[in-house]
Amino acid sequence: MGFSDHWSWLVALSCLLVGEVQCDCTEDKMQIEGGHYTLTKQLETSSMLIYHCPEGYYPYPSLTRLCQRNGSWKEPPRRYPTQRCRVVECPDPNVLEYGEVFPPQENYFVNNETAYECYSGYTMRGSPKRVCLPNGKWSGSTPICSRDSGATCADPGVPAGAARTGKIFGFKDKVKYRCNGNLILVGSSERVCLENGQWTGKEPACYYKHTYDTSLEVSEEFGSAIKTSLTTLEPIDDIQGGRKIRISKNGTLNIYIAVDISESIQEKHFQDARDAIIKLISKISSFSVNPNYEIIFFSSEKYEVVNILDFFDKKAELNTTITKLENFEVGDRNTGTDLDLAFRTFLEKMALIKRRVGKEGFMEHRHVIITFTDGAYNMGGSPEPTLRRIKNMVYMNHNGEQDNPSREEYLDIYIFAIGAELFDDDLLPLTAGTGGQHYFRMKDIQNLQETFDAIIDEEEVKGLCGLHKEYETESKRKRYPWMAFITIQNEGSLQTCIGSLVNTQFVLTAAHCFKFGDLPENVKVEIDDGQGRVKIVKTFKIHPNYNISAKVKEGVNEFYDYDVALIQLEKDVRISSDVRPICIPCTQETSDALKLVGESTCKQQEQVLLKNHLEKLSFLTKKANSVEEKDVHAKLGENRDECIRHALQAPGITTNDAKVAVTDNFLCTGGKTPFRDHITCKGDSGGAVFKNYEQRTVQVALVSWGTKDLCKLGGDSDETSRDFHINLFRVVPFLKSILGNDNQNDYAPLQFLQN
Ligand SMILES: *[C@@H]1O[C@H](CO)[C@@H](O)[C@H](O)[C@H]1NC(C)=O
Ligand SMILES: *[C@@H]1O[C@H](CO)[C@@H](O)[C@H](O)[C@H]1NC(C)=O
Ligand SMILES: *[C@@H]1O[C@H](CO)[C@@H](O)[C@H](O)[C@H]1NC(C)=O
Ligand SMILES: *[C@@H]1O[C@H](CO)[C@@H](O)[C@H](O)[C@H]1NC(C)=O
Ligand SMILES: *[C@@H]1O[C@H](CO)[C@@H](O)[C@H](O)[C@H]1NC(C)=O
Repeated sequence: MGFSDHWSWLVALSCLLVGEVQCDCTEDKMQIEGGHYTLTKQLETSSMLIYHCPEGYYPYPSLTRLCQRNGSWKEPPRRYPTQRCRVVECPDPNVLEYGEVFPPQENYFVNNETAYECYSGYTMRGSPKRVCLPNGKWSGSTPICSRDSGATCADPGVPAGAARTGKIFGFKDKVKYRCNGNLILVGSSERVCLENGQWTGKEPACYYKHTYDTSLEVSEEFGSAIKTSLTTLEPIDDIQGGRKIRISKNGTLNIYIAVDISESIQEKHFQDARDAIIKLISKISSFSVNPNYEIIFFSSEKYEVVNILDFFDKKAELNTTITKLENFEVGDRNTGTDLDLAFRTFLEKMALIKRRVGKEGFMEHRHVIITFTDGAYNMGGSPEPTLRRIKNMVYMNHNGEQDNPSREEYLDIYIFAIGAELFDDDLLPLTAGTGGQHYFRMKDIQNLQETFDAIIDEEEVKGLCGLHKEYETESKRKRYPWMAFITIQNEGSLQTCIGSLVNTQFVLTAAHCFKFGDLPENVKVEIDDGQGRVKIVKTFKIHPNYNISAKVKEGVNEFYDYDVALIQLEKDVRISSDVRPICIPCTQETSDALKLVGESTCKQQEQVLLKNHLEKLSFLTKKANSVEEKDVHAKLGENRDECIRHALQAPGITTNDAKVAVTDNFLCTGGKTPFRDHITCKGDSGGAVFKNYEQRTVQVALVSWGTKDLCKLGGDSDETSRDFHINLFRVVPFLKSILGNDNQNDYAPLQFLQN
């Protein structure tokens, strides 16, 4: 015992020697059975000790400990219960009404399975079998046993771990939920039955301190929520009776992002949050909405990355915002967290915006606040009073008036709870908004970037042409969701071509893929949309001016002008992130993708897409069963004549005038100077020559013919090889006559621009 006394005396002395009453903590008794710990600042004051356990386990009884100035840990280690990794538990499923749960157990742990049965006379909705998952949630959905009572709404059930009050489900009836024990309720604690038979809000869930949301869950929930904000602001195509109706809403979207960088948040979390924000705002940019952004990092002070007013002054743009974010470094972090500071900053900015745009203009503004924090604020107090003022401003409440429910959709506050220990009770009341989940408990936000990447894959963005994923690791289908492979069997010979999906029923390709007398049943189109890889072809239409022998007498054996065709499929393909049409010139959707505002023209699109006299474009070349993307440079303006001149060296051309063979309807690529282009191969005919504009792809031309076949040599151009592609801007009347035809009921017509 004498030794131990001696030891603590030494510690006390070393503390004094530092000058202040400040000293190091020790690692004595810090071990965790079955896991390990990390320290944020070694054993210095304010260092945080974080416990880690393998998947399916969580640290118990403490998640973290904090090193205090006097060298002792906050939450000192205790003899009992010993610090260990405990197996994850799921909330009690024995809350089922009118049914039974097997096996009946006191507690349910990870991998435990349950089965549900309804009493006779009751039918089941939801999952009859569920498994307790490593994140502390049950798989599937809440099982509900109910009888048809003729009420307006269906029985909403009781989620595991919860208790519900309210047993009548008529129009305007309310049900209320709470969680048993010390579980946390996430979601709507109150739901109201609407006239259409739906319950308001979202089914709540009961979370333990160890329950968290997986990235898939976050992407689905947050994705559908943020998309609602984005798509209600962009024109939506609503298909009614086969006709497309455009619903256009006016308005401005302001997005405010705050990231907690106080010490309790680890450095890694900060970087992950920053990368995730970059991904999120780039993703949002693929919608036709251009939000304004306020982005801050905060601890006890705030660091403004982007000022939203700069967007109003046109001083800030998305690209500069991303650069600023990428370069943002946190220096020495301040101790202390002032969460209210973030909310006060946003309130202030809202007030300034309101002053600028006036009350009427402000009515049209929607606000989305996204906060990354652990909620461990220790300065500035609770942000709730500030939140109240934000709500009053956005909901346009007058003194003491109740919140106006019709204005609730104008404010969404999402909280991404990140950190080793989360203060749910303080954070939950800070969320706001209608519809889906607004509170996310994230175990680690490493995957948040991918989570945000996945948010574009939903129904609401079906209509967005050219949207694609650009990850290298993603499948080729996700990168080129519009690609189609075409094979035409004619009398023993097999012609293979590439095409591009331009709406749910049409594939654009080259006319020369077809021979006279080909029938739709000879044509095979492959698009793997999960409903059968090979599509049945209904018909195909070749450009009326296409005539390969039109200029034989003028010294052009094979004349490829108007080398375009449209193949109509028997059935609509199913749109998903794997299958989606490409954008084509002179449509409203392409203007939206290019962010041309107001009434735009074909000419404007062409100026954006083909503005450089050496315009970099891409095409796909077929390699085995896959494709590779290749770069070319369209020679425009003063570069064009030199480029097309090489057509005279092609076999079968005897004219002296290149323009006889290469009309103005072609784009010319190839050659070695100033850039070495790639040359198309035989099976590449009909494929898209395209350009990416942020997350969207626009097809500007299609592969038609070339002077040399260099594929055996790798497909790199030599000095004289050239390719000629049909410029889609020159064949718009043909495209419009079919794709824009609104005198039919088979497909939703594309909206072509007037001019
Ligand atoms: C260290 O300080 C904390 C509060 O600052 C106090 O609760 C604790 O008792 C102190 N421990 C020792 C060993 O002095
Ligand atoms: C439930 O899980 C616990 C912990 O893994 C295990 O000990 C128990 O045997 C499981 N019960 C059943 C019925 O599978
Ligand atoms: C939408 O905005 C435009 C210009 O900003 C305005 O001319 C038009 O009246 C607005 N439409 C509606 C329905 O508010
Ligand atoms: C950002 O984009 C604008 C046009 O959209 C461009 O003028 C500007 O140079 C770009 N800035 C940077 C840093 O790339
Ligand atoms: C194609 O052009 C040639 C030469 O002008 C003409 O004789 C022939 O009738 C044309 N074919 C079609 C199908 O128009």
